[in-house]
Amino acid sequence: MEGFFNFKKIDNFRVLFYPCKYTVHISVEVTISLKKEVKLLEYKTDFLVIGSGIAGLSFAIKAARTGNVAIITKRMARESATYYAQGGIASVLAPEDSFESHIDDTLNAGAGLCNKKIVKKVVRSGPAMIHELIELGVQFSSNLEGHTEELNLGREGGHSERRIVHAKDITGRAVEQGLLDAIDKHPNITVYEDFIAVDLFAHSKFVGPTSIENEEVWGAYALDKTDTVHTFLSHITVLATGGAGKVYIYTSNPDIATGDGIAMAYRAGAEIANMEFMQFHPTCLYHPEAKNFLITEALRGEGALLKLKDSTEFMRAHHKKAELAPRDIVARAIDFELKKSGDECVYLDISHRDAGFIKDRFPNIYNRCLDYGVDITKEPIPVVPAAHYICGGIKTDECGRSSIKRLYAIGEAASTGLHGANRLASNSLLEALVMADSAAESAAKELKTGSSKLPVIPIWETRGAVTSDEAVVISQNWDEVRRFMWNYVGIVRSNKRLERARRRITLLESEINEYYWDFKITSDLLELRNIATVAKLIITCAETRHESRGLHYNIDYPGRSEEFLHDTVIKPT
Ligand code: FAD
Ligand code: SIN
Repeated sequence: MEGFFNFKKIDNFRVLFYPCKYTVHISVEVTISLKKEVKLLEYKTDFLVIGSGIAGLSFAIKAARTGNVAIITKRMARESATYYAQGGIASVLAPEDSFESHIDDTLNAGAGLCNKKIVKKVVRSGPAMIHELIELGVQFSSNLEGHTEELNLGREGGHSERRIVHAKDITGRAVEQGLLDAIDKHPNITVYEDFIAVDLFAHSKFVGPTSIENEEVWGAYALDKTDTVHTFLSHITVLATGGAGKVYIYTSNPDIATGDGIAMAYRAGAEIANMEFMQFHPTCLYHPEAKNFLITEALRGEGALLKLKDSTEFMRAHHKKAELAPRDIVARAIDFELKKSGDECVYLDISHRDAGFIKDRFPNIYNRCLDYGVDITKEPIPVVPAAHYICGGIKTDECGRSSIKRLYAIGEAASTGLHGANRLASNSLLEALVMADSAAESAAKELKTGSSKLPVIPIWETRGAVTSDEAVVISQNWDEVRRFMWNYVGIVRSNKRLERARRRITLLESEINEYYWDFKITSDLLELRNIATVAKLIITCAETRHESRGLHYNIDYPGRSEEFLHDTVIKPT
C-alpha cells in the first residue's frame, strides 16, 4: 500500500513513532470540513529552501535559474552563523600552495574519517567559488587596496599554508550581505522572514504491519509570528538550517543554531551521521556580559599566544604546533589546564604585535573587546572553549542528496564526509558554497525529470491543544538540556557521564513531547523539542563509539581503534 494514509491509521503510527501534531493523510471529506475551521495558507514552489545562511542563499541563487524558489527563515534573513563568521574561507590561491596540501591538511584534521572523494571535490572547487563571490560583489581583503586579484591570505590552525580568504574579521557579514543583495533583485526568489519550519511533509508507505518508511519529502509546515501554520508544498526541499551549538550552554553560535533541520530530517526518517563530533572552538571571549563572542583563530595565525593567569605559555607542552595545532587539541589543552588550575579562563595575548596592525586586521574584535573593557593591543583577552560546529548531521551524497527522495541537506546541517572526525578551520563556508552549487545542479535535473504533479496538501491540526500557561516548563528544560550536555557530553566524556546524560534526555524528551501534544506550538517549544532531539542523537552516537578520535574523547576509551574507522549512522526505527 502506498500513498497518504487514512486518518486513523496514520494517526496511530505517528503517535507511536514520531509524535507530531499533523496527520499525513488526505480524505476529501475531512479536508473540506477542516478547511472551514483552520486558517490555512498554502504556497506552491519548485524549490523550498529552509534557511538563509551561506548554504541556503547560494543554493537559491543557482536554483532560481531553473525554477521558483521560496526561502523560509526563522528570524531576519541575515541572522545566521554565516553572518558572524570571522576567520574566512579556506581556498588554494597562493602560488606556493597546492590542492594536495589543502587535501592533506583536511584529511589530517579529520582523523581517518573523511571521505576522500568529497575532500578532493571541495578543495578543488574552492578557487572557482571564491571568484563567484567576488563577481557578486563581495569585497575580500587584498594586499593592495582595490586589487581584488591579490587577496590577503590568513593562516589558521591545522593549515600548512596561508590560504584563508577573509574580509578582515567580518568575513561572514561581507559574504551574507553580498548573497542577500543578489537575492533581493531576483524575480524568481521570495524570502519569508520570521517563518520557522515545524516539520517536513513526508509521503509514506507501509513496509510492514508496524512500520512505515518515508519515501519522499514534498515541503514543510512553517509557523509565522501570528501563530499561523503555513503549508509550503515543493518539488524539492532543501535543509540549510545550519548547526546546533545551542545544545550546549556555552557556545559561539547565534540563537538560531538549534539543530532544527537535523531534528526534522530525523523525524522524517532520514539517515543522520557522526553526531558525536561536536567541535569546541578554543577561544570565545570570557566575560559575564558577552553571550557568545568568538575570538577568531586567525589571531593565533598572526602570533597570539595562549597563557595561564600567571602568564605561563602552555600550548607547546601539548603539541609541537603549539597555538597552531588542530582545534580539538587546543580546546582539550585549555580544558585540561582549566581543570588543573581551577581557573575560570585562560588568556589569549596578541599585545606584542603592533597596535596599528591589530586594529586594522581585527577591527571587530578590537572594538567589541574594548566595549567590554579589554584593550587587546595592551592586554591579554580572557577566553574559554565553547561549542562551535557540528561535524555530523543529515547524511548526504556528493550532491547534497539525503537518504530521502527530494530532500537535500547542505551547509552545517549536512554530513557530507568532508570533515570526518574534526573540521579543519575555515572549511565550513567553503563546503557550504561547493555543496550548494552541486545540490542546485542535481536538484534542477531532478525537477526536470521528476513528476510534475504536487500531492494534495495535508492539514495542520491542533486537536484540542490549548495555549500554555506554564512557559516555565520550556525555560527549565531548555537550561537543563544545555547544562547536562556541557557537563556530561562536552569536550571530555566518560561512559558514566554518557549514561547520566542518557537517563536525563529520556526523561526530558518524554516531558517535552507530552507538552508538545497538550499545548499550542510556539517557536520556543519547537526549538526546545529540536535541541532535545539533537542532544539525544549526540548522546547516541557518542555511546556507540568506543574509542577516542578527533573531537570525540572518552576517557574510558582513550585510544583510537581500527574497529571504529567508520561513520556512525543512525536512522529512526
Ligand atoms: P547558517 O548560516 O547558520 O544559516 C542557517 C539558517 O537557517 C538561518 O537563516 C536560520 O535562521 C535558518 N533556520 C534554522 N532553523 C530554521 C527553521 N526551523 N525554520 C526556518 N529557518 C531556520 N566557518 C568558516 O568556514 N570560517 C569561519 O571563519 C567561521 N567563523 C565562524 C564564526 C562563528 C562565530 C560561528 C558561529 C561559526 C563560524 N564558522 C566559520 C562556521 C560557519 O559560519 C557555519 O558553519 C556556516 O556559516 C553555516 O552556514 P549554513 O548556511 O549552513 O547555516
Ligand atoms: C575562526 O575564525 O576562528 C572560526 C573559523 C572556523 O570556524 O572555521
